[in-house]
Amino acid sequence: MGNDAELAAQVMERIEALARISDETGLLVRTFGSPALRRANDLVAAWMRESGMTTREDAIGNLIGRFPGADADAKTLLLGSHLDTVRDAGKFDGPLGVLTALACVQRLHEQRQALPFAIEVIGFADEEGVRFNSPYLGSRALAGTFDRQKLCWKDSKGVAMAEVIRQFGGNPDALDTAKRDPADLLGYVEVHIEQGPALEAADRSVGTVTGIAGQMRARFAFTGRAGHAGTTPMRFRQDALSAAAEFALAIEDDARRHEPLLMTIGMVSVNPHASNVIPRWAGLSLDLRHPSGAELASAWQRVTGIAERIASQRNTPVAWEEVQEMTPVTFSNELLSLLREAARRHQGTVPELFSGAGHDAATLAELTPVAMLFVRCKEGISHHPDESVQTDDVRVAIAVLNDFLQALARKHHG
Ligand code: HGY
Ligand code: MN
Ligand code: MN
Repeated sequence: MGNDAELAAQVMERIEALARISDETGLLVRTFGSPALRRANDLVAAWMRESGMTTREDAIGNLIGRFPGADADAKTLLLGSHLDTVRDAGKFDGPLGVLTALACVQRLHEQRQALPFAIEVIGFADEEGVRFNSPYLGSRALAGTFDRQKLCWKDSKGVAMAEVIRQFGGNPDALDTAKRDPADLLGYVEVHIEQGPALEAADRSVGTVTGIAGQMRARFAFTGRAGHAGTTPMRFRQDALSAAAEFALAIEDDARRHEPLLMTIGMVSVNPHASNVIPRWAGLSLDLRHPSGAELASAWQRVTGIAERIASQRNTPVAWEEVQEMTPVTFSNELLSLLREAARRHQGTVPELFSGAGHDAATLAELTPVAMLFVRCKEGISHHPDESVQTDDVRVAIAVLNDFLQALARKHHG
């Protein structure tokens, strides 16, 4: 094994192997602390060890492979991405970043080359936030920004987060041991599919990322009054689901009038959930995104005002809970310029892209310098089984990441 094309072909085979590891049959889903994530971690850990790495899992379940530097007290460069997925996911969102990083370490191992810094490849335990509707649990633990109050949150089956971590083999009482000391780190570089159309439009394999949009996630709940579907006149109803539906359409209209604001309601639940009973309760998830933190804050004000207006008009009180907030992140550092130079050597012009999708890199940017490399994906499709990437674009990503590592080594070798 050795050249970029062979390494890229191996990455694609491994992507397929991971895509067969799911918590459900018929679709790909691997959530935080799940049996499928356990199998995925074990498989990737075996590949890491084949590439000369030692492996461990930290207190929250992040998989960490370590490839030592030339001297014992060398600083560490973090690479990687996440191994959890959304529900009915594509194969590349997350695993591509872990496996391209691993391919570069494999080359170093085969060439018996130790760099003047150590490399750790991380498979983060929960970037998507599907199980607890709270993303970045893994990278927040590593960055030291994990909110311990979430340990008592329960998943849809009533299992507390702390118990999930324990069952996975982690230790919820020792999450502070997962935090990394920024003094030990050179930074974090993440390779990820673009999840957008820009690289296809520019006909380029890779692009560098200038920043990540701010995002807010929240839960809204409208409370009405259950009643008989056949005997309650419309004018007497306090229908929680109708209130939630009016809210959804009203904030969609607001987002349309405030582009590039993005709003998504991806989850709805209704009680008592019977076809002949007027809904007494309706819960919604809300995902709000904007490149500007100030615009995101004013959008949040408008959204909560709309919720309160509809609640009072329909006599269906509303409650909400902010689940997480990520302020927008801009990248500009030595790592990014080295990555850009490396990319230029392989494809001439290098598109510079802003990410509407969130990434573990946004969390780690609070801890250490961060850079990201996007890889072209077909029609920008993501969070969908049709997500796809060309092997040759993976070859370019591996070549660029490898050149970046060599350039960083030259810079740190003096
Ligand atoms: O939702 C996101 O932006 C990312 O895919 N977790
Ligand atoms: Mn992702
Ligand atoms: Mn994703």
